[in-house]
Amino acid sequence: MSVSVAVFASGGGSNFQSLLDYQPEDCSGRIELLISDRPDAGALQRAEKAGIQTRIIPVKNRSQDAVGLETLEALEQNEIHVILLAGYLRLIPPVIIQAYPRLILNIHPALLPSFGGKGMWGRHVHEAVLASGASVTGPTIHFVDEEYDTGAILAQWPVPVMSGDTPETLAARVLKVEHLLYPRAAEYLCRAVERGVQAEPLKLPADAVSVAEAFSPETVAGQIDAAFRAAEG
Ligand code: GRF
Repeated sequence: MSVSVAVFASGGGSNFQSLLDYQPEDCSGRIELLISDRPDAGALQRAEKAGIQTRIIPVKNRSQDAVGLETLEALEQNEIHVILLAGYLRLIPPVIIQAYPRLILNIHPALLPSFGGKGMWGRHVHEAVLASGASVTGPTIHFVDEEYDTGAILAQWPVPVMSGDTPETLAARVLKVEHLLYPRAAEYLCRAVERGVQAEPLKLPADAVSVAEAFSPETVAGQIDAAFRAAEG
């Protein structure tokens, strides 16, 4: 059985693209549907190009119940098992959270629980990281609950903050690691779903920070793969 996945995106969709592009052997997850709240989301074009079904579900000026029921119907029609938020800027209605317990992931571009919550998206996150003087940041993958950025953490990966960083340079460095971490975390969850086991939080290898400092995508990708393999036991 393969695990059917829906991605929710409001923006350009570079994370969605990284999910589409990641196709390891014996892949458990299969992206079947892209849902967006915005008709101008770049992610929609990426989905059309990849032959993935799309659905626009507006959220503005609608009740959470109305959005939730329309969303649930689209998910049920496509027999979706797992939901991945990839730059989706809306709260997920309670009816969806209840229907998908520990089956919805989000990616956040900083190390939660710091630098999260309402209003903490895009440039604001990286500005806050720089203002704090933190020397390490990096993406967080977490399960989604009814609030912003508060669900249980599944995986995080370090990215160094460098002197002279601007919000833009820092965002670009973090985004590269988002594109490595999210597809692997999503596939890890899909494998757990397929096997009927709980996906346990990822443990960072001791040298993750030093490797991240000498950033090479291949090395970091290899380290992330090894950490997920270790988490599967
Ligand atoms: C990413 O930085 C992600 O962490 C956050 O929203 C941004 C989406 O970027 N949740 P993209 O649309 O995937 O390029």
